[in-house]
Amino acid sequence: MLAGPPRLVSLLTIVFILCLGWWYLRLVPSPSTSGLTIDTSPPPKPGYHTGGALDFSIPLRFKDGTAKPPGSNYTHVLVVPKTMKEDIRWMAAEIPDTPLAVYEVDNPNAENKVPQNKGREVMVYLTYIIDHYDDLPDTVLFMHSHRHAWHNNQLMGLDGVQIIRRLNHERVARMGFMNLRCHHEPGCPDWIHMDRPGGDFDFFKKPEEIYWRRHVWEEIHPGAPIPPTISGICCAQFAVSRERIRQVPLERFHHYRNWLLTTTMDDQFSGRIFEYIWHYIFTGHEVYCPAMNTCYCDGYGFCFGGRQKFADYFKKQDSRNQKFEELKTYENQKEEAKKEGKTLEWNETVKARISELQKEINRMDGEMQKERNEAQERGNDPKMRKEETESWDSTHIWDYAPKGD
Ligand SMILES: *[C@@H]1O[C@H](CO)[C@@H](O)[C@H](O)[C@H]1NC(C)=O
Ligand SMILES: *[C@@H]1O[C@H](CO)[C@@H](O)[C@H](O)[C@H]1NC(C)=O
Repeated sequence: MLAGPPRLVSLLTIVFILCLGWWYLRLVPSPSTSGLTIDTSPPPKPGYHTGGALDFSIPLRFKDGTAKPPGSNYTHVLVVPKTMKEDIRWMAAEIPDTPLAVYEVDNPNAENKVPQNKGREVMVYLTYIIDHYDDLPDTVLFMHSHRHAWHNNQLMGLDGVQIIRRLNHERVARMGFMNLRCHHEPGCPDWIHMDRPGGDFDFFKKPEEIYWRRHVWEEIHPGAPIPPTISGICCAQFAVSRERIRQVPLERFHHYRNWLLTTTMDDQFSGRIFEYIWHYIFTGHEVYCPAMNTCYCDGYGFCFGGRQKFADYFKKQDSRNQKFEELKTYENQKEEAKKEGKTLEWNETVKARISELQKEINRMDGEMQKERNEAQERGNDPKMRKEETESWDSTHIWDYAPKGD
C-alpha cells in the first residue's frame, strides 16, 4: 500500500518540474536577455527592424549612404505625373539625357498606369516605386510636370531644368533623400501639429493642417509614436537613392497606396498629407530641415561661403524687392491715370524718389549678380563645397573654434 501511490506522486512531480523547467526556458530564452546581465546582442542594423514590415512602432533607422568615386555617373530617372492637357515637351528639349517615367493619370491608354487617378502625384510616386522596386536606377527624381514654379529654387530662376541639370547625385547617394527645394518656407521648421487647437489654424499658409489629425497619423503609421510636430520642406519634389528606397519594405508602399485608394479625404488634401511625410518615410525623421546654404552648395553648387553670407544675400534680395514694389506703386498710379485719360505729372520730390529707387535697384541687381557668380565659382571647387557640407567628422572641427589670442 505504501509503495504504490508515493511513487506515482513523485513521478507526477518530476513530470511537473520538467514541464515547469521547459516552460521557464521557453519564456527566458537565454540568460543574456534576462535583464540580470548586460545585453551583449548586437544592436539592430540600420535599415533593419525587428518587427514585421508593417510594424511602425519602431521608426526605421537609416545609415548614410556612400557616394561613388568622384566623376562617376549615376543612372537616374525622372518620375513625372501629368494630366493629358499638361505639356512636358520642355523635358525632351532641355533634358534629353534624363530618362522619364511619365504617368498620364487621366489617360486610360497611358503607357504607365496607376490603379486609380486619386491623391494627385502621390499615387504616381508610390506606383512607380511599387512597380520598379527591384529595378531602380541610382537616383529617382520625383517632380511635377511644370517647368517653372514658385516652389522651385530662387537662385536657379525657379526653373526645373536647372534643378535636374545641376543636381549633385553624390548628395542624394550620401543622404538617401533630398528635397529638391532648398528654401525652408513653407514646411520648416515647426509646421504641422496634430494637436493644434481649432482657433490657431492658419488656413492661408497651412490649409492641410486641419486634416492632419491624430487618427490620420494612426491610419498611415499604426503604432508609430505620435510626433510632437511634422516638419519638412514643402511641395513634394525630391530625389531618393535606390538604396534608401529599398531600405523601406515594399509592403509599406503598398500600405501607403492602399490608404490613398481607400481614404475619403478630398484629393487635394490626401496629396498634401504625403507632402509632409515623404521625408519621414525616407529618413525616419519627423523634422527634416537641412541647412539652406548647404542644400544650395552641396546640392547644386551655389556656395556663398556659409550660412551668414547666404542669409545676407537673401536679405539684400528682400530689400531690393521692397524698393521694386515701391517703384511699381508709382508706375501703377501713372497707368491708372492714363486709363482715365489723364496724364500724371510727378512733382520734384517724387521724381527724385523714383530716380533714387531705380538707381538703388540697379546697384543691388549688379551686386547680387556678382555674388551669385562668385557662389557658382566657389561651387566648382570641391574643397569649398566640402567646407559648406554637413559632416559628422570631428577630426578638424576645432579648427573652426575661435583662437584664443
Ligand atoms: C559618364 O558619362 C559621360 C557621358 O555619357 C561619359 O562621357 C563619361 O565617360 C562617363 N564617365 C564615366 C566615369 O563612366
Ligand atoms: C508730391 O507729390 C506727392 C504724391 O502725389 C505728394 O504726396 C507730396 O505731398 C508732393 N510733394 C510736394 C512737395 O508737393
